[in-house]
Amino acid sequence: MNTKDIRTKIEELVDESTGKTLKETSAIKHIGIDSENDVVVLVIAIGKTGGKAENNLKRQLAKIVKIDLGFSGIKMQIEEARKIDSITNRNVRFIIIESGKGGVGKSTIAVNIAYALKNLKQNVAIIDADVYGSSVPRILEMIQEYPKVNEQGKIIPKEAFGMQVISTEFFIEGNKPVIWRGAMLNKMMNNFFYEVAWDKNLDFVVVDAPPGTGDVSLDLKNIIPTGEAIIVTTPHKAASKVAIKAGFASKSLNHQIIGVIENMSYFNNPVNNNKEYVFGQGGGLEVAKELGVELLAQIPLAHPIHHSGIYETDEEIGQIFDNIASFLLIKE
Ligand SMILES: Nc1ncnc2c1ncn2[C@@H]1O[C@H](COP(=O)(O)OP(=O)(O)OP(=O)(O)O)[C@@H](O)[C@H]1O
Ligand SMILES: [Mg+2]
Repeated sequence: MNTKDIRTKIEELVDESTGKTLKETSAIKHIGIDSENDVVVLVIAIGKTGGKAENNLKRQLAKIVKIDLGFSGIKMQIEEARKIDSITNRNVRFIIIESGKGGVGKSTIAVNIAYALKNLKQNVAIIDADVYGSSVPRILEMIQEYPKVNEQGKIIPKEAFGMQVISTEFFIEGNKPVIWRGAMLNKMMNNFFYEVAWDKNLDFVVVDAPPGTGDVSLDLKNIIPTGEAIIVTTPHKAASKVAIKAGFASKSLNHQIIGVIENMSYFNNPVNNNKEYVFGQGGGLEVAKELGVELLAQIPLAHPIHHSGIYETDEEIGQIFDNIASFLLIKE
């Protein structure tokens, strides 16, 4: 008796939550035989877990494996198809850009880290999860329209600067304010991860998280427990104080924090070549020290030369993002 025989025996079973056979939905994700213990190991994807469909299927699988095929035991892992097939189950690294305060450059940094990773030949996507102040499409000079949907009903992500992008802004009309809470936010976040037809070979997903801590941070933690957080602050005390708070909140959720980026650190005065510390000094180092992580970069104040929000490598800031991306790659 081998795994092929087992497959033939079980693939005609019907997943009642979709009304289709396991064969039709390619639901059998793994069949293994633990011969030492005479146990069959199955991973099955169904339409909806936690209901009658799951219970009935489990009963039928156990019957086939134990009674019809004569194994001593069965180990089953039944998961929802959309979750099994989602990017969260692939070999993708999630970089979550967080900050305490708004307006510190979180979105600019998220997009530019993504872009620098892309320039290092990585396959990159951006999830703009900042439901309250979504600005990724603006930085990437994208036009606002609803994304298309593919034959399987999955949302097709948009492309900009060679990256796949999904943003809350694609789903709201005009300038209407977003007033989503709790359950709706949760659904939105879930959709970004489970209902989008992401490229199958993504290396990195960079997430622009909303400032502060709240429902979305919790949702993100649940959806991507392996996320790596970067905390953004400015040198200003007011920003670093809240950044530390956000960092600790993130730590309490067991997010791995990989470093701090200080933005708007200084201004290169072209007249005398002096660095002018417009917002003071020390915020980034303080946050890094408090959280026990590295200060990854200090980014000066400068507008991008070539694009509205993207810095290229012939610019000082573009070089800094390039270094951050290289650090992320090596860190793996
Ligand atoms: N290093 C920088 N030099 C000059 N301008 C910058 C720099 N970083 C960000 N900015 C500008 O500051 C503004 C705020 O940046 P951004 O939108 O990235 O911040 P944010 O933290 O995401 O803000 P929000 O809380 O609104 O989402 C933008 O106009 C951006 O172009
Ligand atoms: Mg933003």
